[in-house]
Amino acid sequence: MDRIAVLTSGGDAPGMNAAIRAIVKVAAADGLECVGVERGYDGLIDGRFTPLTRETPSGMVPIRGFQINGNTGGTMLGSARSDRFRDPTGRATAGKQMREWGIRGLVVIGGNGSIQGAHKLAVEQSIPVIALPGSIDNDIGCTASAIGVDTALNTIVDACDKIADTAQAHRRAFIVEVMGRSSGYLAMTAAVATAADGVLLPEMPKTREEVLESTTSMIQRAFATDRHKSQVLIIKAEGVEYGAAELAKEIEERLVDIKADVRATVLGHVQRGGRPSSFDRMIAGRMGLVAVESLLEGRTDEMVAWQATIRGGEKTSDPQLRLFPMEQVLTETEAMADGTSWVVEWRAQRMEAIHGILAH
Ligand code: F6P
Repeated sequence: MDRIAVLTSGGDAPGMNAAIRAIVKVAAADGLECVGVERGYDGLIDGRFTPLTRETPSGMVPIRGFQINGNTGGTMLGSARSDRFRDPTGRATAGKQMREWGIRGLVVIGGNGSIQGAHKLAVEQSIPVIALPGSIDNDIGCTASAIGVDTALNTIVDACDKIADTAQAHRRAFIVEVMGRSSGYLAMTAAVATAADGVLLPEMPKTREEVLESTTSMIQRAFATDRHKSQVLIIKAEGVEYGAAELAKEIEERLVDIKADVRATVLGHVQRGGRPSSFDRMIAGRMGLVAVESLLEGRTDEMVAWQATIRGGEKTSDPQLRLFPMEQVLTETEAMADGTSWVVEWRAQRMEAIHGILAH
């Protein structure tokens, strides 16, 4: 193997650049050429490759600028959600491009859709592919965390601290909507980290009336005169189908007696940007190393997973990183999305158990 490629796909996540940096450094140290694919699977189909290493008299080195770029958010290669790659013809063209460019292995960094694409490419095109989980949603199976989750959580906590300042000043309640698609992970962990008064998760389904009723009575209790509370913070996952602004307005209408102000803040894409946290840079770097090692060992169709507690999977050189077949990852990801995974059941049970505590 003398030339490998790396691409980022789907929603960008802070730490993707740190993973690219690690892959390039490891490749160069092993005397491999590494090329970057611009704008995800679309770039693979169009053959948009850019060199990330260069040959020097003293051997292979990363191109200049990597040291700095690895510490930034976003992805220096660009990303995309490619419709063309969903089609077998698109994947065949991508395979042809890779063969023409002499690419012997590919590392894909991305979320659920990206891993689906990586699996199909590995199976159909017989080119070794290793995936790294990269998504702020933490909705990927078999891994305890993905690149970007920790930074997004830090951004949410920071935003909630700021909201708390103004909420206290005006004795207001805030509904803060956080990202996560159909996963409530960011909402759940942010609620614990900020000691929010309540949390609304898709994993704990409720009717609109139940949501309205429970949040209204919680704010009523919180602002009861004997409580001396000066703010209420409710974190709502975007997967809960109730617009934050609409919910805030409807709660306020029910609170006419106590005249409480309820405001809504949708944090949006600010959660996807920013300098990656040390944790995200650390797992990204370690995953990047294992990805290249795995390609060199001739492995394919597997995802590198972060396992704080080690469960199953095949060992790598790193005790906290395991390799899982992509098919298993995709099955578990689907189970997480439809709520049948033990991970989601466990999250919902824990949140149910602490719900009463949050409101205190
Ligand atoms: O998957 C990451 C994510 O940020 C989700 O949390 C969110 O639902 C979605 O992407 C937003 O996608 P887009 O950037 O295409 O609006």
